[in-house]
Amino acid sequence: MVYIAVLGHGVVGSGVLEVFYKNNKSILSKAGIDMDIKYILDLRDFPELPYAEKFVKSFDPIINDPEVKIVVEVMGGLDPSYDYVKRCLLSGKSVVTSNKALVAAYGAELLEIAKNNNANFLFEASVGGGIPILRPISQCLAANEIREISGILNGTTNFILTKMISEGMAFDEALALAQKLGYAERNPAADVEGMDACRKICILASLAFGRHVYPEDVHTEGITSLTLQDVKYASAWGGVIKLIGRVRKLDDGHIAAIVCPAFIEKSSQLAGIDDVFNGIMVRGDAIGDVVFYGRGAGKLPTASAVVADIIDEAKHLGARKYVYWLPAEDGYVCDYLKASSVFFVRVGTQDKAAALKSADSLFGKVTEVVCPDMPKNEAAFITPELPEGELERALASLSSLDFSIISKIRVLSDL
Ligand code: HSE
Repeated sequence: MVYIAVLGHGVVGSGVLEVFYKNNKSILSKAGIDMDIKYILDLRDFPELPYAEKFVKSFDPIINDPEVKIVVEVMGGLDPSYDYVKRCLLSGKSVVTSNKALVAAYGAELLEIAKNNNANFLFEASVGGGIPILRPISQCLAANEIREISGILNGTTNFILTKMISEGMAFDEALALAQKLGYAERNPAADVEGMDACRKICILASLAFGRHVYPEDVHTEGITSLTLQDVKYASAWGGVIKLIGRVRKLDDGHIAAIVCPAFIEKSSQLAGIDDVFNGIMVRGDAIGDVVFYGRGAGKLPTASAVVADIIDEAKHLGARKYVYWLPAEDGYVCDYLKASSVFFVRVGTQDKAAALKSADSLFGKVTEVVCPDMPKNEAAFITPELPEGELERALASLSSLDFSIISKIRVLSDL
C-alpha cells in the first residue's frame, strides 16, 4: 500500500480529494498499485466530510511517517510550502505540487534535492492547470530543439481582455465581473500585473531549455494600463490584444523572455483563445508549431493534473522521472532592452502630420494606424523591428519634441 498526504484543503486540495475518490477504481487500476490518502493537513476542521478523520493540524505526523511515500503540496505560496517540500524530498518522499510560485522560485534546488534522495518532484498542474504541457514538452517533444514557447498563461486576464474586445467593457468593469464570477481574487495584482503568467513562463523556459529562469529576470508588464482605445487600434490593425508570456532561445545560447500585452494577428492560433482558457504554443525544429489549449485554472481541472502526477509517481516509486533542470548563471536571460520587436505607439499631438514625420525620422519608416472613432489629438503607428532600448531612446526624443507618449504595445506578428 502506498500512502499519500495532502498539504492543504483549499480549492485545489479539495478538488484532489474529490477526483481521487470519485474515480478511485480506475485511478488505482491505472496506478497498478494500491494507494490511499492517509493525511490531509489543514488548520480548519471539516467534520462533514466522509474523510474527516484524515485531517491533521501539524506537519509532524506526515514527515515522521515512513509509510507516506507521496506528499501533495497544494497550499500555494512559499511559506511554509518551501520548508515542507524540502523536508519531504530530503527524507526521500516524492512531492507533487500545483504551486507555481514554489517551482518558479526554487525549482532547480528542489529538483536537485529530489535527485539526491531518489525521489521525484512533479508539478504538471503548476502551468496551464489541467492542460497537459510539461510532460508533452519533456517527453513527447523530446526529439525537438525547442525554439520558442509563447502562450496565454493566465485565465483571469484573458477573461478581462475578452470582455474588453468582444463587449467593449472597460478594464475596471471587466475586472469587477471576473471577481464576481470567482475568476479573479479580491486582490487581483498577481494576475493583472502579470506575475502569475511570469511564474508560468519561467517554469516552461526552465524545463524546455534546461536552466532555471527566475521570475525577477523576466521583464513583466500586466494589463492594467490597457484601454478600450488600445483594443480598437488592435482591431483596426487586424488583430487582438492578448497577455503573452514568451521565451525564445537565442543563437548565442541565451534566453529572451518577457510577459507583456501584445498585438497578435487575428489569424494567430492564440488569437481565438478566449475567456478563462489558456493556450500554449510550442515551436520545435521538427514538429513546427503545436498548440495546447484548455482550462488553465479551477478546482477540478487543476486536480486532474495533480492526480495524474500522483498516479505517475505511484507507478514509478523509487525510479527517477524525466523532469530536471540546472541552476543558471547570471546573465542567462538577456536584458529585454536588447531584444528586438515591432511596436505599436500612440502619441498625443495637435499636429498629426508632424508627429508621423518625426516618427519616420526617429524609428525608420512607420505605418500609421487609424480607427474609425480615434481621438482627434493623437497619432498612432507601427514601428519597424528594432531593439527595445533604441525604441525607448526614440520615444524620449519624440517626447522632447513635445509629442506625449500615450502607449507602447509590442506587436508579435510571428505568433
Ligand atoms: N489566477 C490564475 C489564472 C490561476 O487566472 O490563470 C491559475 O494559475
